[in-house]
Amino acid sequence: MKKSGPFYDGIFRRLEAKRWRLAEVPFGDVDVASVPAEVVDFVRSNCLVELSSLYAVRMFLRDFRENVDFCQFMSVWYFEEMKHYLVLREWLKLFGREPSEEELAPLDAELLPAPWPGTLAMHYCGELRLGMWYHRWSEVMPEPVLRSIYRRIGEDELRHAQCYRDFMLRAAERDPAVVLDLVQAAKWMMVGGLEKHPTTLAASGPGEPSVVERVPEGGLLLARVRETIGAADEARLRGKILSTLSTLCDAELATLPDVVRWTRRRGGADEPPLDRAADLRRIAS
Ligand SMILES: [Fe+2]
Ligand SMILES: [Fe+2]
Repeated sequence: MKKSGPFYDGIFRRLEAKRWRLAEVPFGDVDVASVPAEVVDFVRSNCLVELSSLYAVRMFLRDFRENVDFCQFMSVWYFEEMKHYLVLREWLKLFGREPSEEELAPLDAELLPAPWPGTLAMHYCGELRLGMWYHRWSEVMPEPVLRSIYRRIGEDELRHAQCYRDFMLRAAERDPAVVLDLVQAAKWMMVGGLEKHPTTLAASGPGEPSVVERVPEGGLLLARVRETIGAADEARLRGKILSTLSTLCDAELATLPDVVRWTRRRGGADEPPLDRAADLRRIAS
């Protein structure tokens, strides 16, 4: 990634060059009768969770309003995320199980304002984790077209993670004071298990349901995560995050305790946060 100038210009071209088209997905090859009902139920909940980019993009444009470059990148990110919703929806149409328009509005969540550095790091980790889930599901799903869909959207999520990483490194380059907030949020995302993703955290404040909890049968998504993702996958994910944090801090952070020591030396708090906005505020205070 070029160091100077807006990232949007390069990201647009980079993602455009890799972009897949909906028309490439061979929906006509799906053998509808052979797909177990529980797989259709699961894809339906996954489809509705992908709709959450709608709530997230409103939050990003509000909380990152000072960062024009990032807000421009959001146009590409939002397009691709909504395409994930659409491609899963198109697959569900084969079964007559696509979500109805009336179902969507009640799922809406207003994400509370939070300091942007923590949000950036949280979404970097979230995209990596989601990419890992989708790649696994591209291997284990029983229906070949669905496997190809998960491969495509998994690759998109990992490319998104790369973009978030670029914005984190640039933020650190421009203002080293934000590094502690970035590292604290990434540390928090590495602690406490398989399911930690922006869509599984309290969406609108302490005690409020997460995006996944708002979705009908959202539990199916988390059950599939627990069933298909193991400790070795999480260790690989952690390795990727630690590598980025090492670059960010210009220090060798090979383990989570290394990160804890690094943040302690800089006066960061240790307690595990509980909800998105309140905890990102605490990380930044
Ligand atoms: Fe997505
Ligand atoms: Fe993504």
